[in-house]
Amino acid sequence: MGRKTILLLIVGALGAYYVYTPLPDNIEEPWKLMWVTTCLKTITHLGHLAELLGISNSMDITGFFMSIQEVPPTSDENVTVMETTFNNVPVRIYLPKRKSETLRRGLFYVHGGGWCMGSADDYFYDLLSRRTADRLDAVVISTNYRLAPKYHFPVQFEDVYTALKWFLDPQILESYGVDPGRIGVSGDSAGGNLAAAVAQQLLEDPDVKIKLKVQSLIYPALQNFDFDLPSYQENAHYPVLSKSLMVRFWSEYFTTDRSLKKAMLSNQHIPLESSHLFKFVNWSSLLPEKFKKGHVYKTPTHGSSELAKKYPGILDVKASPLLADDSKLRGLPLTYVITCQYDVLRDDGLMYVTRLQNSGVRVIHNHLEGAFHGTLYFLFTKVGYRAADQYINWLHENL
Ligand SMILES: *[C@@H]1O[C@H](CO)[C@@H](O)[C@H](O)[C@H]1NC(C)=O
Ligand SMILES: *[C@@H]1O[C@H](CO)[C@@H](O)[C@H](O)[C@H]1NC(C)=O
Repeated sequence: MGRKTILLLIVGALGAYYVYTPLPDNIEEPWKLMWVTTCLKTITHLGHLAELLGISNSMDITGFFMSIQEVPPTSDENVTVMETTFNNVPVRIYLPKRKSETLRRGLFYVHGGGWCMGSADDYFYDLLSRRTADRLDAVVISTNYRLAPKYHFPVQFEDVYTALKWFLDPQILESYGVDPGRIGVSGDSAGGNLAAAVAQQLLEDPDVKIKLKVQSLIYPALQNFDFDLPSYQENAHYPVLSKSLMVRFWSEYFTTDRSLKKAMLSNQHIPLESSHLFKFVNWSSLLPEKFKKGHVYKTPTHGSSELAKKYPGILDVKASPLLADDSKLRGLPLTYVITCQYDVLRDDGLMYVTRLQNSGVRVIHNHLEGAFHGTLYFLFTKVGYRAADQYINWLHENL
């Protein structure tokens, strides 16, 4: 074999390694997913390399590549798009152009990206908000918030809450022509976490008189107590969101100190004093039977109290909405939850559905078979397009 042949073989093998991802067989348009995965793999590896060389935190590198997709606020024939700040938090506003005799519905949207990346300005988030505003004839507020690794919990939560509270001021609602009786919050992934957390926070805030009509949580992250859930075990190495990346996101939400990630990966980060909270995330009692199959519940091992002392956020209900007790959950509005079959976060969503139902909250659950984490973001796939349609239809009927 000549040198050229060997080189070609090596390049070919590397290329195949990058492009080829083993996928389950009920995936629609597998090539689109492989293409997404190849891009993500490349970016992730560049990030790891930069981190290894001490150039940058890998989250910043991934965030940089994601920010390439940001688009300016551009109005179209149906929707006026503008940027402003709500009490210093930058938001993007989507206002339908057609005349309305009555007040409009309002939707407050929180983007995902593991608390580390993403933006309301991202092309796909812009597209989703635009479509939502147009189809629902609703005012959509898509909020930004400061990101890790520069900012840690509770900054992300507080930015989102600050913007939401500003929006819920009766005078602000009036200025945008929004009906105070028809407002919802919505978010995906880490944005679903923030949406769920601020919806809970509103229940305890005497300053806010307005009640949400709905919350819709799209494959939300809802707890950082147990990273050994069946969904974490089954989907640990599937594309889009691996267990290791999700644990990195969670740890980065609280700190860049790697010892937290290490403890989280071995599920030894929660101190003994907090073991009473495990009942809120006990998949053995909270998952429907069909999702438990083949798994045996192990009570998580406890870690030292050091980490929780240093990073109390890991025990905070504002970070893990599943830690709220039933009496608090009871006050939540009508809820829509999307979960995906191939997603480490699947069981977070499933457990929240059970807990809300047990607390008497009306929940509509849409489980997407054959779908991966991030489906609604990938609006160029059939499954993503369909899921976005279902989500918007649900809002149309219930908000
Ligand atoms: C604007 O609305 C019309 C009527 O619903 C629709 O056919 C058209 O595609 C919309 N335009 C955009 C850019 O969404
Ligand atoms: C979890 O639930 C199972 C079955 O319902 C129960 O046996 C176990 O004690 C629970 N563990 C915790 C930590 O709540």
